[in-house]
Amino acid sequence: MLSDLAQQGPASYFPRPETPVTFNFDQGLAAEETFPIADLQRVMTTVLDRDRGRALEYVSLGYDAERDKILYPPTQGELALGYPGLRAEVARWIGRTQGVAGLDADHVILTSGSVQAIALAVSALLNPGEGALVEKATFPYAMRFMQMRGADVRAVEIDEHGLVPDSLVQRLGELERDGVRPKLLYVIPTFQLPTCVVMPEDRRRRLLEIAEEWNLVVLEDSIYADLRYGGEPVPSLLSLDTGGRVLQSHGFSKNLAPGLRLGWISAAPALVRGLAAVRQDLGVSQWTSRAMELFLVEGLLDPHIAAANQVYRRKRDVAVTAVRRHCGDLVTFDVPDGGFYLWLRMGDDVDWVKAQHEAAERGVFCRPGERFLGERDGQAFLRLAYSHAADDEIERGIAVLGEAITSNVR
Ligand SMILES: Cc1ncc(COP(=O)(O)O)c(C=O)c1O
Repeated sequence: MLSDLAQQGPASYFPRPETPVTFNFDQGLAAEETFPIADLQRVMTTVLDRDRGRALEYVSLGYDAERDKILYPPTQGELALGYPGLRAEVARWIGRTQGVAGLDADHVILTSGSVQAIALAVSALLNPGEGALVEKATFPYAMRFMQMRGADVRAVEIDEHGLVPDSLVQRLGELERDGVRPKLLYVIPTFQLPTCVVMPEDRRRRLLEIAEEWNLVVLEDSIYADLRYGGEPVPSLLSLDTGGRVLQSHGFSKNLAPGLRLGWISAAPALVRGLAAVRQDLGVSQWTSRAMELFLVEGLLDPHIAAANQVYRRKRDVAVTAVRRHCGDLVTFDVPDGGFYLWLRMGDDVDWVKAQHEAAERGVFCRPGERFLGERDGQAFLRLAYSHAADDEIERGIAVLGEAITSNVR
């Protein structure tokens, strides 16, 4: 009874091994020990004490205390866009942290995680048959949303500085020759998934010039952008955009906790309204939105991110030392300045298929590179997420991985 679409997949993004997972380097999860439980408990309770049942409605209902009557406002806007108080606070936070002037609640739509933001952007912008461009290695969910929409998706080369502008121009030319209208570029410029590279400012500016020339909308996925613990910050595409053609997806999943399921898109109000027009889910939680408004008003987010980044820096250093010690020169990688991952390139003489299997049998789980990029020049990659494991697990798990790799050299 399943549709063709359902029968096609999705591929299992989270591999379920026969053996139990002892060392989980698979998912890019915020570290549980960083979750601000006490603060979240307090803001959630404060909102319930303060707003009572109004925190538990679909949308904000008014209350006339004198007549003890509920006031029913027009609900359509808030149902599709989310609680205005949090939208305003998110706009203020983006404005302050990214140096973007003139943002307000009308520039923000709240979503259930940023993954829904990406899905809405794809539905709102792409007609079937229109062209979408993605980095050659990218977030598989975004790719699949585009494929489900019937878009013609083309992959743009990436290097150690992210998306390669000349390759973008080449793909655009190809689409034109094929009679396909290019519409949307999806890009993760800061701590790119899965490579963790950061696109330098001059390349960002070039990318925006190309978007202008070809009249593209750019979806900037910023989900990892706050997780910087080395190097110098680079301006976001949203902050460099002068043409109102950048939509930025972001949220609290990586910089705070994924279970909040709160993300957003920030963009020009006309684009935000376009996303709202294709929404069909009755919105995100009022209670959580009001609590997170308070979290932001109290200025808790930035110190939280700063403290969490100390934890990720330490874990990265443990992971880097362990990979060097246990894998030697059989894998190569660049040390990232932020994010959750090492992107490891297997040496040509490693039988990665066998090594992967052996590591999995011994309880080590990592995400094989093919999940993000398909076959690339026969080169094998591995994404190792160090963000969620404890320090000693990182060390012991990488030791097991190293044994699997070193014992499978051709
Ligand atoms: C690149 C990228 N974008 C978006 C997301 C979506 O996260 P969420 O829906 O939890 O905000 C993820 C999650 O892993 C991701 O890696």
